[in-house]
Amino acid sequence: MIYLTRHEHFNAAHKLYNTNWSPEKNEEVFGKCANANWHGHNYDLMVTVKGEINQETGFLMDVKVLSKIIQEYVCEHLDHRNLNLDVPFLQGKLPSTENVAVAIWHQIVPHLPEGVKLHRIRLYETPRIGVDYYGE
Ligand code: NI
Repeated sequence: MIYLTRHEHFNAAHKLYNTNWSPEKNEEVFGKCANANWHGHNYDLMVTVKGEINQETGFLMDVKVLSKIIQEYVCEHLDHRNLNLDVPFLQGKLPSTENVAVAIWHQIVPHLPEGVKLHRIRLYETPRIGVDYYGE
């Protein structure tokens, strides 16, 4: 079993706000991310796939194909967008790093070539804060 990681970036705006709560509670729980007029993050996305090495190519999969899948099904939908308003696959979800990572998992899985499995979505919202999602 070999693991292959592709690193991508996107920039997006969001706010974290639970409408069932008072402004004070939102401020307490979400801090600056509750700012009513949005704010942005430079997201770092690392997508790791796993499988067996193809003996003819020496590759797990063509990394250009992996990059294209990430671009087409993830980054084109998220880059320079408002995660609360613009992204159909995030509708109805609070766009926390956790929820965005899980949504990215589901965007990628159906498009991987046969024999290649998604292993991990690693999403960093800032250089110091990120999440890992392994599909469970
Ligand atoms: Ni934020």
